[in-house]
Amino acid sequence: MHLIDGKAIASRLRRSLKDRVQTLKKQPHLVVVLATDHPASLSYVTAKEKAAIEVGFKSRIIKDKFTEASLLKCIDELNQDSEVDGILVQLPLPDGFDQNKVIDRIDPTKDVDGFHPHNLAMLVQDREGFVPATPKGIIRLLKESNIHLKGQHVVIVGRSLIVGKPLIHLLLKENMSVTVAHSKSKDLKALTLPADVLIAAVGVPNLIQPDMVKKGVIIIDVGINRVDGKLVGDVDFEALKDVVEAMTPVPGGVGPMTIYALLENTYEAVLRKEETL
Ligand code: GUN
Repeated sequence: MHLIDGKAIASRLRRSLKDRVQTLKKQPHLVVVLATDHPASLSYVTAKEKAAIEVGFKSRIIKDKFTEASLLKCIDELNQDSEVDGILVQLPLPDGFDQNKVIDRIDPTKDVDGFHPHNLAMLVQDREGFVPATPKGIIRLLKESNIHLKGQHVVIVGRSLIVGKPLIHLLLKENMSVTVAHSKSKDLKALTLPADVLIAAVGVPNLIQPDMVKKGVIIIDVGINRVDGKLVGDVDFEALKDVVEAMTPVPGGVGPMTIYALLENTYEAVLRKEETL
């Protein structure tokens, strides 16, 4: 089995991005907004801020006991602040918050998460806009690993706004045949068995087992599940080691590529602004 080392690839890409950041007229500035106390969310946003500073960005976390109204006000202020290039509101939001209302409020030219309806529509139309970080990172990971995509059959397990849905369009753009399976699929195994490439993004620990894939499949594991204090993916890594051609580990696979893609989006935000000035 070939291990798809997202950690090493992202580290190399960050070094190259750091050089390109030096050539910008303006230092990119990413603001990450956190409205919950979830320890996992806090660790994600801390990792994003740290990586941003490492490549030469300005970055800060705004963590507060927001109400929906005060969160919208915070977004308005960041939209108005010409010093700020990228705004990321970490999901999930607290119970009772209207996620769509919050996402809609972010200036689409600063929406480095790519979840605003404007950017999602651009993605569907194959036009230039912000592409959500995890799907963008996955495509980059596949390409950097020289995995053949054109004409191949990819099966996505999961249909979230953050991963599954944007991936459909990105993989179609790579001329793949795309199947989407999800929690209501009648016979999951029948859908996953023909996959040349399998992308698991459902958040069910060890869901993907050897009898569900064909020999030589390439697996991208997007799951980050905490089981007995340990991080595990949606794929039973140990059981699949001898079946797959290549596979990502958890942690150290998709996660670092998500962060890299977010940095690239923030860099692109500045670049687009400089190009239109
Ligand atoms: N929660 C899990 N993944 C993401 C992401 O990519 N962006 C945001 N904003 N929240 C997330």
